Amino acid sequence: MQSSYTLVDLQNWRSLPNDAQPIRLGVFGNPVEHSLSPQMQNAALEACGIEMQYVRFHIQPAELKEALRLLPSLEFVGVNLTLPHKVNAIALVDALDPSAQQIGAINAIRIKGDKLFGFNTDGPAFARAIRHEFSVDLRDLRVLVLGAGGGAGRAIAHQCAREGCERLVLVNRTQEKAAVLADEMKASFADARVAAPVARLQVIGWDEQAIREQIANIDLVVNASSVGMRRSDRSPISATIIAPHLMVYDTVYTRARTPLLAAADEAGARGANGLSMLLHQGALAFESWFDRDAPIDVMRRALQ
Ligand SMILES: NC(=O)c1ccc[n+]([C@@H]2O[C@H](COP(=O)([O-])OP(=O)(O)OC[C@H]3O[C@@H](n4cnc5c(N)ncnc54)[C@H](OP(=O)(O)O)[C@@H]3O)[C@@H](O)[C@H]2O)c1
Repeated sequence: MQSSYTLVDLQNWRSLPNDAQPIRLGVFGNPVEHSLSPQMQNAALEACGIEMQYVRFHIQPAELKEALRLLPSLEFVGVNLTLPHKVNAIALVDALDPSAQQIGAINAIRIKGDKLFGFNTDGPAFARAIRHEFSVDLRDLRVLVLGAGGGAGRAIAHQCAREGCERLVLVNRTQEKAAVLADEMKASFADARVAAPVARLQVIGWDEQAIREQIANIDLVVNASSVGMRRSDRSPISATIIAPHLMVYDTVYTRARTPLLAAADEAGARGANGLSMLLHQGALAFESWFDRDAPIDVMRRALQ
């Protein structure tokens, strides 16, 4: 098996050397070499006795439409989408899950006949990850989202709204994007549930002082920005802002101890990285592709 495939491979699919198991699933990205999805999904397929393989596809933005359209005739079951395809793919599918429409991005596609159905598992995966990591439900939490204007941040914020979290504070480098998101969600936060004299839904600037002022009325800080992915990145917020009562969830999973989690440690707060969200988004996609429960423990072990 190759380490990754391309559009040219899809165009010449039937003439490629046959693998023992047919390739029927994959992840489209650019770059895609870092993706941990194949090891997780292939372990699940094997555990369930499904004779298929999941592989990486290195697809450029301009190739996405043709690559997706080739999948039904090649008997694919589904694919995941990662950067930079999550937003552009919305216009290329035949039907869309309403929550994916709301978020404006998809991270998975199910193929039925010659139709592509787009959906997004990031929000529900985030909710499951928080329950697993901290034994709490989003509806009981006051949440601050860093990077609320990106695809992951929007999915997480909409999930918080759907589950009726107590309070939501949106922070994004480009503040206007967080303001647009807050506007979309304002009806969900219309009733006053928070005892303290603070707004239930608020947008603040990416500014240490503004974030510091929120912390007394926050339980969970989430990093949904891409800060922390690169080796040279510093923590998106400094340890001096983080208080010991906080739960800190970093959607970044490129390292066990991301810069934010190191800062949380230093401040005496509990933290978890994004591996659990990756696990649950993969499990939810598997469940949608095969209409059966995913072997979550097998998938977790494969990621570890
Ligand atoms: N664990 C999981 O399963 C999972 C799933 C999905 C995503 N993620 C993670 O979520 C993160 C974002 O992914 P995405 O798909 O949402 O990407 P995206 O749509 O490109 O969004 C990137 C976000 O990061 C912000 N950002 C980028 N550089 C920044 C900087 N230097 N300072 C402050 N903010 C900065 C952007 O702010 P602007 O709006 O101002 O550009 C935007 O909010 C990545 O780290 C990714 O690994 C994890």
